[in-house]
Amino acid sequence: MSETVIELKGIKKEFPGVLALDKVQLKVGKGEVHALVGENGAGKSTLMNILSGTYQPNEGEILYKGASVRFPEPRDAQDAGIAMIHQELSLSPSLSIYENIFVGRLLKNRFGLTDIAAMIRDSSVFLEELGMGTLDPKTLISDLSVSQQQLVEIAKAVSLNSDIIIMDEPTSSLTRKESLYLFKIIEGLKAKGVSVLFISHRMDEIFSISDKITVLRDGRYIDTLDTGITNEKEIVSLMVGRSLDKQFHREKKKEFSGNPLLEVKDLSVPGLFENVNFKLYSGMILGLTGLVGAGRSELVQSIFGADNLPDGEILIQGDPAQIKNVKDSVGLGLGLIPEGRKTQGIFREMSVRENISMTVLQKEPGQFLIDRARESEDVEEYIRKLRIKTPGPEQKIKFLSGGNQQKAILARWLLSSPRILILDEPTHGIDVGAKAEIYQLMEDLTREGIGILLISSELPEIITMSDEILVMSEGRINGSLPGDSASQDEIMQLSIPGKERSKA
Ligand SMILES: Nc1ncnc2c1ncn2[C@@H]1O[C@H](COP(=O)(O)OP(=O)(O)OP(=O)(O)O)[C@@H](O)[C@H]1O
Ligand SMILES: [Mg+2]
Repeated sequence: MSETVIELKGIKKEFPGVLALDKVQLKVGKGEVHALVGENGAGKSTLMNILSGTYQPNEGEILYKGASVRFPEPRDAQDAGIAMIHQELSLSPSLSIYENIFVGRLLKNRFGLTDIAAMIRDSSVFLEELGMGTLDPKTLISDLSVSQQQLVEIAKAVSLNSDIIIMDEPTSSLTRKESLYLFKIIEGLKAKGVSVLFISHRMDEIFSISDKITVLRDGRYIDTLDTGITNEKEIVSLMVGRSLDKQFHREKKKEFSGNPLLEVKDLSVPGLFENVNFKLYSGMILGLTGLVGAGRSELVQSIFGADNLPDGEILIQGDPAQIKNVKDSVGLGLGLIPEGRKTQGIFREMSVRENISMTVLQKEPGQFLIDRARESEDVEEYIRKLRIKTPGPEQKIKFLSGGNQQKAILARWLLSSPRILILDEPTHGIDVGAKAEIYQLMEDLTREGIGILLISSELPEIITMSDEILVMSEGRINGSLPGDSASQDEIMQLSIPGKERSKA
């Protein structure tokens, strides 16, 4: 047995109206990868924020290397050797990569001057390890994609040479390939005796990299298990407090008739995607998958008028549509829930109610009289339907857990009742229990006649939900598969760049 590095005992944390943690314990060994799991709002981030000095517990004790400690500030935890990668990105957008990595601890040369060259050099090494060797450390954070920003956060935490690194959903905005780089780094840290606390909603990741798993539910400690002798089903049932073996099932439709709700013909944006054609009918879920970098998000952003207007034709219910910006597309009945909700779409200082009802208000310009009663009814319905964990609709959204903030953004778009809904990775960062509820909502929406374009990298999700599956590779639709019979293998085959186009 490895020696215990950190032990949390009897941790209690209360926020106004919320008991976030109730007598929680946790014990982590040296060089151990310890996964922390639980549903959205279970208390994972709060517990880690206590360990990293961001929050103070109301009760309880932290034992670090055998001694009782207190971390009044994050800085104190960091100095003691505990680094945390937060669920929300916390880099300074107007500073460069290397400045962010070395902020607060600039390297000096032997004359006592700031050694920029050394910081750039060291940053390059960290970037290289994370598979971003081609990136110039002088690049501004604001010029990076969300996943690149996430990788810089990781590089920063690793560069601190800590004994314990806390990673709060580090992979939720990473591609599969980027995640694999991270896992290699975690292996390396482990070999050096560094302990890693790892939070994720993805069971496959947890089972491939962790030694132990601690389960929290509703702010309470449930159990700690050895990864080697438990399984996914057991962990999930401990998380949700009931067994969840009933898989979501959706009947697939093969035939659709009438004018498509949305049809695109020969859509191209040079360098991003070319000659994209598809038809989305009322009541249909059209899956769009492929390796990340295939151009999926770019394609839908472009259709939606958010970025790079495309060449080619967009038809809405048979009529050519002129979409020049987001307002046009919303006016035509389109809704897009973008990927990377961590950075987009959340108004942190506003209430859950305001965040949810936002587009509804935008939809009716000039209508100053808002039907308040109706609004709160709708908002409350969605809080219930999606099980958004909040003491009430007036809570500021920034106080919700990460996954619950995402559910609120999802609710906003569902409430704006678009006829055509584009969902870009809708279940990233959402716990296993809530996923099924989102699937059910999608199914309900299609029954009401809405057409859904679903982008997802999770093949089981694409296969479970889609009537038809489009596979994109290097900016092209490489083939299409019927949703009732497609297999993961077939999809993977079509995802590989350079493969033959199948009968589309
Ligand atoms: N600063 C705060 N003020 C009020 N309530 C808070 C605050 N921080 C967290 N909470 C509440 O504490 C509970 C636990 O939240 P926490 O962020 O720890 O959940 P989590 O397990 O990390 O969930 P997720 O998987 O969604 O990230 C939630 O109900 C959340 O709304
Ligand atoms: Mg969290």
